[in-house]
Amino acid sequence: MKITAAITRTKGEISIEEAELAAPKASEVLVKIIASGVCHTDAAGIEGFIPWITFPQVFGHEGVGIVEEVGIAVDTLKPGDRVAMTFPSCGRCKYCLDGHPYACVHLNELFFSGAYKDGTRRISQNGEDIGSFFAQGAFATHAIVDARNAVKVEGIPDDKLKYLCSLGCGVQTGAGAVLNRCKPKPATSLVVFGSGGVGMAAVMAAAIAGCTQIIAVDVVPSRLEMAKEFGATDTINAKEVDDVVAKIKEITGGGAHYSIESSGIPALTLQATACLRRMGIAVICSVTGPAEVSIPLEMYLMNPSVTLAGLTEGGSNPQIFIPKLAEYFKAGRLPVDRLVKFYDFKDIKQAFADSHSGVTVKPILLFD
Ligand SMILES: NC(=O)c1ccc[n+]([C@@H]2O[C@H](COP(=O)([O-])OP(=O)(O)OC[C@H]3O[C@@H](n4cnc5c(N)ncnc54)[C@H](O)[C@@H]3O)[C@@H](O)[C@H]2O)c1
Ligand SMILES: [Zn+2]
Ligand SMILES: [Zn+2]
Repeated sequence: MKITAAITRTKGEISIEEAELAAPKASEVLVKIIASGVCHTDAAGIEGFIPWITFPQVFGHEGVGIVEEVGIAVDTLKPGDRVAMTFPSCGRCKYCLDGHPYACVHLNELFFSGAYKDGTRRISQNGEDIGSFFAQGAFATHAIVDARNAVKVEGIPDDKLKYLCSLGCGVQTGAGAVLNRCKPKPATSLVVFGSGGVGMAAVMAAAIAGCTQIIAVDVVPSRLEMAKEFGATDTINAKEVDDVVAKIKEITGGGAHYSIESSGIPALTLQATACLRRMGIAVICSVTGPAEVSIPLEMYLMNPSVTLAGLTEGGSNPQIFIPKLAEYFKAGRLPVDRLVKFYDFKDIKQAFADSHSGVTVKPILLFD
């Protein structure tokens, strides 16, 4: 079928063009996209910072929409179902089978190469194959996804569906880092470095989990103000405070129990580790390409028995976690609608620019 898609052919470039979308294969579904979130990882992919990326590719991996057609082996979804699309996983490796699809051994190919799990692509133009980011490619009017990465959302009115885009990646990542990995004990402290889509979700989740000190660190004052509305008890503007780690230790009386690094800045891994108290847990969510950091091991990790953890997609099993996040949204406890600014699909470049400048926390593209 004919679709309109935002195609990236070379680093940094996006062009809205007509293309051809194949029919869904046996385990796949065809989704008419209603809305599609812009995540920092799209920007990292388009800019070529992620080593496994291939071009040309259609980015976008936070689509919500309506199932229009299902492959012959799909028995979990039917035409008309409302779905939030999320990250892909093979479903066959030992990590997937053990309930950890975020640790799938095929993650890099499936997330970044543009190919689906059979190694082929679904979008083409004049006979040339075009990849689909996250085996999804949601910056387009329609997308093909495996039924494993389309999560049925129920009980949300159609006019609210567009707010749920980031449940598929950014919000799942931040909320999952807190709820699935840190699992905060009551009355504990949690620091979030970077109050973007991921970080704001981490703040909201820390409030849900019952943390009594929630510290948001950012460099954009409006984001810090917003973080307070979501439960941050303290904020630190990293541009105005000389020693962020010392400030966190002062606020928490010796160091935080947990920290989430979601600024996208590799060097902040060190701060996220150094700001912890003994037995603290730091969770690194940022996508930082081949960047390396140096950490004094004995002082920050071994001696204080601190855990430094990397985590993809909030350590979530999306078919279980996304419906839970939708319940929190319905209950008003995960107000992701307040992060959002909508853009027409044709204004995709403006959406990226506003995300980059800090004007918009979560840009969402709308499709007719
Ligand atoms: N692990 C995963 O599965 C996963 C999923 C989604 C996104 N990500 C990654 O998470 C990161 C955050 O994504 P996002 O969409 O929230 O990005 P974003 O750009 O919306 O947010 C980053 C925030 O960091 C802030 N920041 C910049 N400099 C800072 C500093 N010195 N100290 C503190 N904060 C600072 C920015 O002002 C911004 O608010 C990105 O690296 C993204 O690629 C990872
Ligand atoms: Zn797998
Ligand atoms: Zn993402």
